[in-house]
Amino acid sequence: MQPQKSLFAVKSYEDVCADGEAGEYKLKRILGPFNLLALGIGAIIGAGLFSLTGVAAGENAGPAVVLSFIIAAIGCGLAGLCYSELASMIPVSGSAYTYAQATMGELVAWIIGWDLVLEYAIGAATVSVSWSRHLVELFDSLGMTLHAIVPIAGVPVNFGAIFVIIAISVLLMRGIAGSAKANMAIVVVKVAIVLTVIGVGVFFVKTANYVPFIPANTGHFGEFGISGIFRAAGIIFFAYIGFDAISTTSQEAKNPQKDMVWGIMGSLAICTILYIAFSLVLVGMVNYQALRGDSAPTATAINMTPFPILKVLVKFGIVAGQTSVILVMLLGQSRVFRAMSADRLLPKFFSDIHPVWRTPWRSNLLFMVFVSLFSGFIPISVLGEMTSIGTLLAFIIVCFGVMVLRRTRPDLPRPFKTPWVPLVPIAGIIVCLAMMVSLGIETWIRLIVWLLIGFAVYFGYSRRQRGPAAVVQAAA
Ligand code: ALA
Repeated sequence: MQPQKSLFAVKSYEDVCADGEAGEYKLKRILGPFNLLALGIGAIIGAGLFSLTGVAAGENAGPAVVLSFIIAAIGCGLAGLCYSELASMIPVSGSAYTYAQATMGELVAWIIGWDLVLEYAIGAATVSVSWSRHLVELFDSLGMTLHAIVPIAGVPVNFGAIFVIIAISVLLMRGIAGSAKANMAIVVVKVAIVLTVIGVGVFFVKTANYVPFIPANTGHFGEFGISGIFRAAGIIFFAYIGFDAISTTSQEAKNPQKDMVWGIMGSLAICTILYIAFSLVLVGMVNYQALRGDSAPTATAINMTPFPILKVLVKFGIVAGQTSVILVMLLGQSRVFRAMSADRLLPKFFSDIHPVWRTPWRSNLLFMVFVSLFSGFIPISVLGEMTSIGTLLAFIIVCFGVMVLRRTRPDLPRPFKTPWVPLVPIAGIIVCLAMMVSLGIETWIRLIVWLLIGFAVYFGYSRRQRGPAAVVQAAA
């Protein structure tokens, strides 16, 4: 029998970087610092801010949802610092998957690569469902009726969500240059809308709505009081997901060593400031008790102003804004699977680059079908929590990765160094774990089932592919 490579054998830093550049056709290095910043903001502001803020304030934290936004930002900031170190020193497009290959070995890398499907593919599905709902509302405020969900043989199918997934997948297949330009335009519109809501809304704030700032706990864990603030942080964590997606475009960045940090931390900082201001204005305009169960709190707040035109503009901004989230998520997904395929853990299919478009178009095509199935049939709450738990797991592994690589390869050049290691990664792990624990038991079960399917694929397919290759390498 052929000996196989150890499950925990780490790929050397040099091999990781060299393999990332291998292949017949290369991805194009066209993304500058502003493209990366826009990709980050494009991926971050979306369904979370516009849909979850009201529910988190009305049912969990009250006006103190502002503190929940700060707690979630701290968790993301700590993980973001760790991502920045690894993304700048390992400028290869597999993100957390690649970092795990270089730090904790193949099995952990596989787990994280498989887990990232939850963040990127399921994340895209989540946002597409929200997109479809907001499109219906936009049509409604223009006096038109749109039926996005149509029953087929008695089963409701979300055709609106499927449509946006197909449209964006086609855009991605045709090339990242067009995608980056489209993203930049969308980001400008979306930030303008958030700033408009803040700028106009601030004049309609009633300070009485801030009292009590932290409503007393009802006797149930997570319903107001301190536990409610943490539960709300776990919910609105979804709103921050996306800054890490920038690291999947390392091989398309002109100067990844320098610009990755700027993209990751810059987009996170800008969104944190916007989120805090937005939530402060929202709970100041609408009493938190009126926000219970409100999944469209922005519209509720705008209704309190005498500017009905804003309603149409805001809905348009939300629809446009969510389009760019889906774009970056689908982009990230194909890049992670490309890296896994280049390592022969997945079929070559996923790393074939189109000779003209220079994109992993076959992978885009397959995920178009996979994501459409989820967005067409699964409820948004299930998809959203799966995205959050998958992302938090990835963040935790990345925090570990920084500590491991500092020990195993202290010699490597680090264009950006995470400050106060191991304090920052350990704090990142603790905050992310606390948010994971606040998610429902069903979500944990779904995570475990997904990982078990991953193990079956790994031991049934990937290990068999890898065995002989390892022998050839060892013999060479
Ligand atoms: N952060 C992204 C959103 O809220 C995933 O839509």
